[in-house]
Amino acid sequence: MSALLAVERVTKRFRGLTALSAVSFEVARGEMAVVIGPNGAGKTTLFNVITGFARPEEGRVTLSGEPLAALAPHAVVRRGLARTFQIPRPFKSLTVGETVSLARPSAAGNVLGAPGAAGVGSAERVLRLVQLWERRDEPAGTLSQGDLKLLEVARALATNPALLLLDEPYAGLGPGEMARLTRVVMDLHAAGLTLVIIEHKLRELMKLTRRVIVLHYGEKIADGTPAEVSREPRVLEAYMGGRGGMAEHA
Ligand SMILES: Nc1ncnc2c1ncn2[C@@H]1O[C@H](COP(=O)(O)OP(=O)(O)OP(=O)(O)O)[C@@H](O)[C@H]1O
Ligand SMILES: [Mg+2]
Repeated sequence: MSALLAVERVTKRFRGLTALSAVSFEVARGEMAVVIGPNGAGKTTLFNVITGFARPEEGRVTLSGEPLAALAPHAVVRRGLARTFQIPRPFKSLTVGETVSLARPSAAGNVLGAPGAAGVGSAERVLRLVQLWERRDEPAGTLSQGDLKLLEVARALATNPALLLLDEPYAGLGPGEMARLTRVVMDLHAAGLTLVIIEHKLRELMKLTRRVIVLHYGEKIADGTPAEVSREPRVLEAYMGGRGGMAEHA
Protein backbone atom coordinates (compact mmCIF):
# COMPACT_ATOMS: atom_id res chain seq x y z
CA MET A 1 0.00 0.00 0.00
CA SER A 2 1.28 3.46 -0.84
CA ALA A 3 1.43 6.18 1.81
CA LEU A 4 -1.16 8.89 1.33
CA LEU A 5 0.07 10.92 4.30
CA ALA A 6 3.67 10.98 5.47
CA VAL A 7 4.76 12.87 8.58
CA GLU A 8 8.56 12.98 8.64
CA ARG A 9 10.47 13.94 11.81
CA VAL A 10 8.16 16.84 12.59
CA THR A 11 9.20 19.08 15.47
CA LYS A 12 7.04 21.98 16.66
CA ARG A 13 8.04 24.26 19.51
CA PHE A 14 6.14 26.98 21.35
CA ARG A 15 8.83 29.10 22.97
CA GLY A 16 10.36 26.74 25.56
CA LEU A 17 7.85 23.95 25.03
CA THR A 18 8.38 21.15 22.50
CA ALA A 19 4.83 20.25 21.50
CA LEU A 20 6.00 17.73 18.87
CA SER A 21 9.40 16.08 18.94
CA ALA A 22 10.62 14.41 15.72
CA VAL A 23 7.29 12.68 15.11
CA SER A 24 7.18 10.34 12.09
CA PHE A 25 4.50 8.04 10.72
CA GLU A 26 2.77 7.16 7.48
CA VAL A 27 -0.88 6.51 6.76
CA ALA A 28 -1.70 4.35 3.75
CA ARG A 29 -4.50 5.11 1.34
CA GLY A 30 -7.74 3.69 2.74
CA GLU A 31 -6.29 3.20 6.21
CA MET A 32 -7.91 4.35 9.47
CA ALA A 33 -5.46 5.45 12.15
CA VAL A 34 -6.37 6.61 15.65
CA VAL A 35 -4.07 9.03 17.49
CA ILE A 36 -4.33 8.93 21.27
CA GLY A 37 -2.44 10.59 24.12
CA PRO A 38 -3.05 12.40 27.42
CA ASN A 39 -4.01 16.11 27.57
CA GLY A 40 -1.28 18.27 26.08
CA ALA A 41 0.40 15.33 24.30
CA GLY A 42 0.51 17.27 21.01
CA LYS A 43 -2.40 15.66 19.17
CA THR A 44 -4.12 18.87 18.04
CA THR A 45 -0.74 20.45 17.26
CA LEU A 46 -0.05 17.49 14.97
CA PHE A 47 -3.29 18.18 13.08
CA ASN A 48 -2.45 21.90 12.98
CA VAL A 49 0.94 21.16 11.41
CA ILE A 50 -0.54 18.72 8.88
CA THR A 51 -3.27 21.16 7.84
CA GLY A 52 -1.16 24.31 7.61
CA PHE A 53 -2.48 26.01 10.76
CA ALA A 54 0.98 25.76 12.32
CA ARG A 55 4.47 25.64 10.82
CA PRO A 56 6.91 23.03 12.12
CA GLU A 57 10.46 24.08 13.00
CA GLU A 58 11.76 20.84 11.56
CA GLY A 59 10.55 17.98 9.42
CA ARG A 60 7.92 17.86 6.73
CA VAL A 61 4.50 16.53 5.81
CA THR A 62 3.64 15.12 2.40
CA LEU A 63 0.34 14.12 0.82
CA SER A 64 0.75 11.59 -2.01
CA GLY A 65 4.45 12.44 -1.93
CA GLU A 66 3.87 16.19 -2.42
CA PRO A 67 5.14 18.44 0.38
CA LEU A 68 2.42 20.49 2.10
CA ALA A 69 4.96 22.95 3.48
CA ALA A 70 4.11 26.63 3.13
CA LEU A 71 0.58 25.96 1.95
CA ALA A 72 -2.17 27.95 3.67
CA PRO A 73 -5.05 25.99 5.22
CA HIS A 74 -7.42 26.67 2.29
CA ALA A 75 -4.78 25.43 -0.17
CA VAL A 76 -4.32 22.29 1.91
CA VAL A 77 -8.08 21.68 1.62
CA ARG A 78 -7.84 21.96 -2.17
CA ARG A 79 -5.21 19.20 -2.11
CA GLY A 80 -7.84 16.93 -0.59
CA LEU A 81 -7.20 17.21 3.12
CA ALA A 82 -10.09 18.11 5.43
CA ARG A 83 -10.35 18.35 9.22
CA THR A 84 -12.76 18.99 12.02
CA PHE A 85 -11.96 21.04 15.09
CA GLN A 86 -11.98 19.86 18.69
CA ILE A 87 -14.47 22.61 19.57
CA PRO A 88 -16.99 23.22 16.76
CA ARG A 89 -17.31 26.92 15.92
CA PRO A 90 -20.42 27.07 13.77
CA PHE A 91 -21.78 30.19 12.16
CA LYS A 92 -24.86 30.03 14.34
CA SER A 93 -27.07 32.07 12.03
CA LEU A 94 -26.40 29.86 9.00
CA THR A 95 -28.67 26.89 8.51
CA VAL A 96 -27.36 23.36 8.61
CA GLY A 97 -27.72 23.17 4.83
CA GLU A 98 -25.97 26.50 4.22
CA THR A 99 -23.06 25.49 6.45
CA VAL A 100 -22.33 22.48 4.28
CA SER A 101 -23.07 24.23 0.98
CA LEU A 102 -20.36 26.81 1.71
CA ALA A 103 -17.67 24.13 1.51
CA ARG A 104 -15.79 24.17 -1.79
CA PRO A 105 -15.32 20.63 -3.12
CA SER A 106 -11.76 19.69 -4.05
CA ALA A 107 -10.97 17.53 -7.05
CA ALA A 108 -8.91 15.21 -4.86
CA GLY A 109 -11.37 12.89 -3.19
CA ASN A 110 -12.89 9.87 -4.81
CA VAL A 111 -15.00 8.41 -2.05
CA LEU A 112 -18.10 10.53 -2.22
CA GLY A 113 -17.80 11.13 -5.92
CA ALA A 114 -17.81 14.43 -7.73
CA PRO A 115 -20.52 16.82 -6.61
CA GLY A 116 -23.52 16.46 -8.86
CA ALA A 117 -25.99 18.89 -10.35
CA ALA A 118 -28.52 20.94 -8.40
CA GLY A 119 -30.34 19.04 -5.72
CA VAL A 120 -28.21 15.94 -5.71
CA GLY A 121 -24.93 17.66 -4.93
CA SER A 122 -22.55 16.60 -2.23
CA ALA A 123 -24.36 18.71 0.41
CA GLU A 124 -27.39 16.45 0.36
CA ARG A 125 -25.28 13.34 0.26
CA VAL A 126 -23.15 14.27 3.25
CA LEU A 127 -26.08 15.59 5.29
CA ARG A 128 -27.94 12.33 4.73
CA LEU A 129 -24.83 10.43 5.76
CA VAL A 130 -24.74 12.14 9.18
CA GLN A 131 -28.54 12.09 9.46
CA LEU A 132 -28.91 15.89 9.44
CA TRP A 133 -30.70 16.21 6.10
CA GLU A 134 -34.10 16.54 7.79
CA ARG A 135 -32.76 19.47 9.78
CA ARG A 136 -31.16 21.30 6.84
CA ASP A 137 -33.30 24.44 7.26
CA GLU A 138 -32.64 24.88 10.98
CA PRO A 139 -30.01 27.37 12.19
CA ALA A 140 -26.77 25.60 13.16
CA GLY A 141 -26.96 27.42 16.50
CA THR A 142 -29.95 25.32 17.57
CA LEU A 143 -28.14 21.97 17.24
CA SER A 144 -27.04 19.88 20.21
CA GLN A 145 -23.31 19.45 20.86
CA GLY A 146 -23.45 16.02 19.26
CA ASP A 147 -25.25 17.21 16.14
CA LEU A 148 -22.79 20.13 15.84
CA LYS A 149 -19.93 17.64 15.80
CA LEU A 150 -21.68 15.62 13.10
CA LEU A 151 -22.27 18.86 11.16
CA GLU A 152 -18.52 19.50 11.41
CA VAL A 153 -17.91 16.09 9.87
CA ALA A 154 -20.43 16.82 7.10
CA ARG A 155 -18.82 20.22 6.39
CA ALA A 156 -15.40 18.58 6.11
CA LEU A 157 -16.77 15.82 3.87
CA ALA A 158 -18.39 18.38 1.60
CA THR A 159 -14.89 19.45 0.56
CA ASN A 160 -14.60 16.00 -1.06
CA PRO A 161 -11.42 15.04 0.80
CA ALA A 162 -9.01 12.21 0.12
CA LEU A 163 -7.94 12.35 3.78
CA LEU A 164 -10.16 13.31 6.71
CA LEU A 165 -8.77 14.29 10.11
CA LEU A 166 -11.18 14.30 13.07
CA ASP A 167 -10.10 15.95 16.33
CA GLU A 168 -11.78 14.23 19.31
CA PRO A 169 -15.11 13.79 17.53
CA TYR A 170 -16.50 11.70 20.39
CA ALA A 171 -15.85 14.23 23.16
CA GLY A 172 -19.09 15.50 24.65
CA LEU A 173 -21.36 13.06 22.80
CA GLY A 174 -24.12 11.00 24.40
CA PRO A 175 -24.33 7.24 23.77
CA GLY A 176 -26.81 7.57 20.88
CA GLU A 177 -24.71 10.25 19.19
CA MET A 178 -21.57 8.14 19.66
CA ALA A 179 -23.25 5.21 17.91
CA ARG A 180 -24.29 7.48 15.03
CA LEU A 181 -20.76 8.83 14.66
CA THR A 182 -19.30 5.33 14.77
CA ARG A 183 -21.68 4.29 11.99
CA VAL A 184 -20.56 7.28 9.90
CA VAL A 185 -16.88 6.50 10.51
CA MET A 186 -17.40 2.84 9.59
CA ASP A 187 -19.29 3.79 6.41
CA LEU A 188 -16.54 6.21 5.35
CA HIS A 189 -13.82 3.68 6.09
CA ALA A 190 -15.71 0.99 4.16
CA ALA A 191 -16.05 3.41 1.24
CA GLY A 192 -12.26 3.72 1.16
CA LEU A 193 -11.74 7.16 2.71
CA THR A 194 -8.45 7.57 4.57
CA LEU A 195 -9.09 8.65 8.16
CA VAL A 196 -6.97 9.89 11.05
CA ILE A 197 -8.97 10.32 14.24
CA ILE A 198 -7.85 11.80 17.56
CA GLU A 199 -9.20 10.22 20.70
CA HIS A 200 -8.28 11.02 24.27
CA LYS A 201 -7.70 7.40 25.19
CA LEU A 202 -8.37 3.88 23.97
CA ARG A 203 -12.10 3.91 23.79
CA GLU A 204 -14.85 3.99 21.22
CA LEU A 205 -12.81 3.24 18.11
CA MET A 206 -10.59 0.50 19.43
CA LYS A 207 -12.92 -2.24 18.26
CA LEU A 208 -12.84 -0.78 14.74
CA THR A 209 -9.24 0.22 14.12
CA ARG A 210 -6.10 -1.80 13.61
CA ARG A 211 -3.74 1.16 13.95
CA VAL A 212 -3.12 3.28 17.01
CA ILE A 213 -0.45 5.97 17.32
CA VAL A 214 0.30 7.12 20.86
CA LEU A 215 1.71 10.57 21.63
CA HIS A 216 3.05 11.64 25.01
CA TYR A 217 4.73 14.98 25.70
CA GLY A 218 5.16 15.47 21.98
CA GLU A 219 6.84 12.14 21.34
CA LYS A 220 5.45 9.17 19.48
CA ILE A 221 5.79 6.43 22.10
CA ALA A 222 3.91 3.62 20.36
CA ASP A 223 2.46 2.70 16.97
CA GLY A 224 0.64 -0.54 16.32
CA THR A 225 -2.57 -2.46 16.87
CA PRO A 226 -4.69 -1.63 19.94
CA ALA A 227 -3.48 -4.83 21.61
CA GLU A 228 0.17 -4.03 20.83
CA VAL A 229 0.13 -0.45 22.09
CA SER A 230 -1.80 -1.32 25.25
CA ARG A 231 1.01 -3.73 26.19
CA GLU A 232 3.74 -1.10 25.73
CA PRO A 233 5.32 -0.17 29.08
CA ARG A 234 5.68 3.49 28.02
CA VAL A 235 2.00 3.67 27.16
CA LEU A 236 0.93 2.13 30.45
CA GLU A 237 3.21 4.57 32.26
CA ALA A 238 1.85 7.56 30.34
CA TYR A 239 -1.69 6.71 31.33
CA MET A 240 -0.98 5.56 34.87
CA GLY A 241 -2.69 7.82 37.35
CA GLY A 242 -4.55 9.45 34.48
CA ARG A 243 -8.32 9.68 34.64
CA GLY A 244 -9.79 6.28 33.83
CA GLY A 245 -6.57 4.96 32.31
CA MET A 246 -6.71 2.84 29.23
CA ALA A 247 -6.61 -0.74 30.47
CA GLU A 248 -10.37 -0.90 30.96
CA HIS A 249 -10.89 -0.31 27.26
CA ALA A 250 -7.94 -2.14 25.78
N1 LIG B 1 -0.52 28.15 20.11
C1 LIG B 1 0.12 27.64 21.17
N2 LIG B 1 0.97 28.41 21.90
C2 LIG B 1 1.65 27.89 22.96
N3 LIG B 1 1.54 26.63 23.38
C3 LIG B 1 0.70 25.82 22.71
C4 LIG B 1 -0.04 26.27 21.58
N4 LIG B 1 -0.78 25.24 21.12
C5 LIG B 1 -0.52 24.19 21.92
N5 LIG B 1 0.37 24.53 22.87
C6 LIG B 1 0.94 23.63 23.90
O1 LIG B 1 1.44 22.48 23.23
C7 LIG B 1 1.16 21.30 23.96
C8 LIG B 1 0.36 20.35 23.09
O2 LIG B 1 -0.96 20.89 22.93
P1 LIG B 1 -2.07 20.18 22.05
O3 LIG B 1 -3.24 21.07 22.04
O4 LIG B 1 -1.48 19.78 20.76
O5 LIG B 1 -2.37 18.87 22.93
P2 LIG B 1 -3.52 17.78 22.76
O6 LIG B 1 -2.82 16.46 22.76
O7 LIG B 1 -4.38 18.11 21.63
O8 LIG B 1 -4.30 17.93 24.14
P3 LIG B 1 -5.88 17.78 24.47
O9 LIG B 1 -6.10 16.30 24.74
O10 LIG B 1 -6.04 18.55 25.73
O11 LIG B 1 -6.68 18.31 23.33
C9 LIG B 1 0.43 21.74 25.22
O12 LIG B 1 1.38 21.85 26.26
C10 LIG B 1 -0.13 23.09 24.84
O13 LIG B 1 -0.27 23.91 25.98
MG1 LIG C 1 -6.36 18.53 21.41
